[in-house]
Amino acid sequence: MTVNQILTEKGYDIHSIPSNITVYEALRIMGERNIGAVLVIEDNLLKGILSERDYARKVVLKNKASKETFVHEIMDEEIISVHPNDDIYYCMDLITNKRVRHLPVVEDSNVVGIVSIGDVVKSIIELQKNTIDHLDSYIHGTKAK
Ligand SMILES: NC(=O)c1ccc[n+]([C@@H]2O[C@H](COP(=O)([O-])OP(=O)(O)OC[C@H]3O[C@@H](n4cnc5c(N)ncnc54)[C@H](O)[C@@H]3O)[C@@H](O)[C@H]2O)c1
Repeated sequence: MTVNQILTEKGYDIHSIPSNITVYEALRIMGERNIGAVLVIEDNLLKGILSERDYARKVVLKNKASKETFVHEIMDEEIISVHPNDDIYYCMDLITNKRVRHLPVVEDSNVVGIVSIGDVVKSIIELQKNTIDHLDSYIHGTKAK
């Protein structure tokens, strides 16, 4: 299964923000959309990603105020992205080894979607369930002969 197949099922929506808004405003957007991270996109270019973890570690734990801190001050600029043709197990490797929960999907420098840890786990569970069902019907079909 590829990233593109995940996107086909979950949708190509991208929730993004500019870097010059406050962290509070970004959190409000995340709350409204019920998501844990937003992409920072300016002039059609992916500049960074802001997650709930960034807020917890770079604002709360540093005794900063979200209404006085701007997104560009705390966003993660070291973006780990995937391509639509990448395999789902490659995504799981990145999520596990790079300790990220959201992977922007980039093609020809354009952001075409985002996949989260939940999307990847859900798809892997579905794949494994299909394999089990297939093996189950094979075993029972063989036994019946
Ligand atoms: N049943 C499902 O299909 C499904 C899919 C994903 C997550 N979940 C559940 O949601 C909870 C949180 O999920 P999570 O940790 O994966 O992260 P999350 O809450 O950030 O993501 C939830 C969904 O929003 C999408 N999303 C996140 N940020 C986005 C953005 N900036 N632009 C566009 N879409 C964005 C993700 O791709 C995912 O489909 C978990 O409990 C998880 O199990 C369920």
